[in-house]
Amino acid sequence: MSSASAPAGDRAVLKFIHVTDPHLVGRGGRVHGLDPGARLERCVEEINDHHEDAAFCVITGDLAHNGDDGGYGELARLLGRLRVPARLLVGNHDRREGFARALAGAPRDAHGFVQSALDHPRFRFLFLDTHDEGSKAGRYCGWRIDWLNEQLATAGDRDVFLFMHHPPFAVGIPGLDRIGLLDVDDFVSTIDRHHNVRHIFFGHAHRPISGHWRRISFSTLFATNHQLALNLAPVERPRYTHEGPAYGIVLLDADRVVVHTRDLSGDRPIDSQ
Ligand SMILES: [Fe+2]
Repeated sequence: MSSASAPAGDRAVLKFIHVTDPHLVGRGGRVHGLDPGARLERCVEEINDHHEDAAFCVITGDLAHNGDDGGYGELARLLGRLRVPARLLVGNHDRREGFARALAGAPRDAHGFVQSALDHPRFRFLFLDTHDEGSKAGRYCGWRIDWLNEQLATAGDRDVFLFMHHPPFAVGIPGLDRIGLLDVDDFVSTIDRHHNVRHIFFGHAHRPISGHWRRISFSTLFATNHQLALNLAPVERPRYTHEGPAYGIVLLDADRVVVHTRDLSGDRPIDSQ
């Protein structure tokens, strides 16, 4: 009689890092009473120390709190220390012009949107630009839909993973849901047409949230600076907290999407008795 088989493949095919919403300002500046540069720097040091083997590190938007040169300069400084290739998304706090000045080498699509694709033999990673100038909510216009449609259509046998700042569905936090991705009909029909999106990683929420939407799994996590208070009731103005910060470590293979969350707020091991 054969013994029970071990779980197939205990090593992931690929590892990457998910960081979100650093809200950087000029070096030493503060946002909601916290120093976003120092907090992202701590995160970068951890990634360098423990995850230098990651394929990439994606930051899902709100890179610069005021969308200005001070924030993007700080981002460029910290990315210069990161020993893992970075992929960057813009969020509602960002400005494409400021981003482009400081990070001229960051990939953009043919229309100037901060979108790009990254291929692995088994996976296609798509980094989307949901920024809508002057709005806290996100939009995904016809130019961007065309790009997404082309990327999904040419993925072949690869599973597709989407990265976006604004979630394309309500998460049950009214203060967040009213500034999510608006006008999603074309986005939804494009995804439905191809049936190859496996997981959506997003930012914007400043909270850990996971589940699935239209049979596609999703996840987001605490930002590296301030967090959004968990409030499922309608509010006039969102409140922020000092929970977290955190970053995610994602392990992929043919059967698994495993998302670990590393809480950076307090990690002293408990001594054994
Ligand atoms: Fe944010």
